[in-house]
Amino acid sequence: MSAAAAVSIESVSKRFRRYHERNQSLKAAAMRKGRARFEEFMALDDVSFKVEEGVSFGLIGENGSGKSTLLKCIAKILTPDAGRVVTRGSVSALLELGAGFHPELSGRENVYLNGAILGMSKKQIDARFDDIVAFSGIEPFIDSPVKNYSSGMYVRLGFAVAISVDPEILLVDEVLAVGDAEFQQKCTDKILDFKREGRTVIVVSHSMPAVRNLCDQVALLEHGHLVDVGKPVDIIDEYLVDVFADREIDQTGGARWGSGEIRLEDFSILDEAGRPAEHIRTGDPVILRFRYAAREPVRRPLFGASIFSADGVYVAGPNTRDADVVFDTLDGSGTLDFRVDRLPLVPGTYDVTAAIHDQTGTHAFDYREKVLRFNVELGTPRESWGIVSLAGEWDVTASGASPARG
Ligand SMILES: Nc1ncnc2c1ncn2[C@@H]1O[C@H](COP(=O)(O)OP(=O)(O)O)[C@@H](O)[C@H]1O
Ligand SMILES: [Mg+2]
Repeated sequence: MSAAAAVSIESVSKRFRRYHERNQSLKAAAMRKGRARFEEFMALDDVSFKVEEGVSFGLIGENGSGKSTLLKCIAKILTPDAGRVVTRGSVSALLELGAGFHPELSGRENVYLNGAILGMSKKQIDARFDDIVAFSGIEPFIDSPVKNYSSGMYVRLGFAVAISVDPEILLVDEVLAVGDAEFQQKCTDKILDFKREGRTVIVVSHSMPAVRNLCDQVALLEHGHLVDVGKPVDIIDEYLVDVFADREIDQTGGARWGSGEIRLEDFSILDEAGRPAEHIRTGDPVILRFRYAAREPVRRPLFGASIFSADGVYVAGPNTRDADVVFDTLDGSGTLDFRVDRLPLVPGTYDVTAAIHDQTGTHAFDYREKVLRFNVELGTPRESWGIVSLAGEWDVTASGASPARG
């Protein structure tokens, strides 16, 4: 890998206008009178990074974060309002679904049209036509108008044309999500071929496994800002943590975060027979049940729960590490029970935070704050002060008196 940058993005900003809703009420329209009917916003805000030659680079971020806009700036389909993009080498792009396709024309005609847009001569396209059609796998439909194509067919043909250009820099927007698994694999293989040949690839994808497998480096965008650039594992982690933290507020109001390879699907308190506990009393036998689902094999995960009193006192924190319980690898879904013979909590309200961490305990796969709130009722011992019942016995002989029972 040489040190030369194939793509250099230098303080790129792109502004768009967002128009106010058209069909607003008369009153709203009157109140808006004299004010702008649109506002400008930054789809890209001072974004800078370099993609070195021969690197497979991933762009990730939530919908609307500016990924497609950035690819279009690199492809020179859009011009930045500020900053610039410098590319070294020929660029071919597969941008949005069917971009550059004419709906009334046949697949065949569109291959020529698209190839021309991407800078190929008719002769060059003639020479590559059969390969393009073969790669797309839509030969029976090549003479039908593309308006009759499914989105999967569009992408197949579009990808086939884009790679036939034989570019030094290939830009691919989201196609890995469209089409069947077989075609996705074909695209992935093709991108890996490109990579092996030392070409530069920039892909936008929502598929984190694909990004992890394909990319050497990843950039994370958020609302048009570049959050970070780095190794796939780190950046994907950062992204998933963000997504969890923003999106998932449990009913109890607790936050949730983690990288998600294994998730705590549910946490519950059961009675000793394994039924959902309706009443929990001091001294009852209970089971704390973790229900997990792993989307990939996870090595040595740690499970733990923290129990807090309603006023926030940390009462107990059982976990598998302290208990020397080690799972070599967990995959798929299952449950893990923590059995308590006699619940030592006095009546009151308690909150549980439960989590699955990696073996070091520092990296959260899934951290669920206040995943469960439960009440404890009067039981045995019949105590109600403080937080815990010591479950002790009064030794009346020590006082020298014998109290009346009853
Ligand atoms: N041509 C356009 N005119 C106005 N707004 C646009 C245009 N293209 C994209 N946007 C807006 O710019 C933001 C970034 O869009 P985009 O780059 O498509 O994001 P992503 O690909 O990450 O989902 C979004 O808010 C989108 O609605
Ligand atoms: Mg997009």
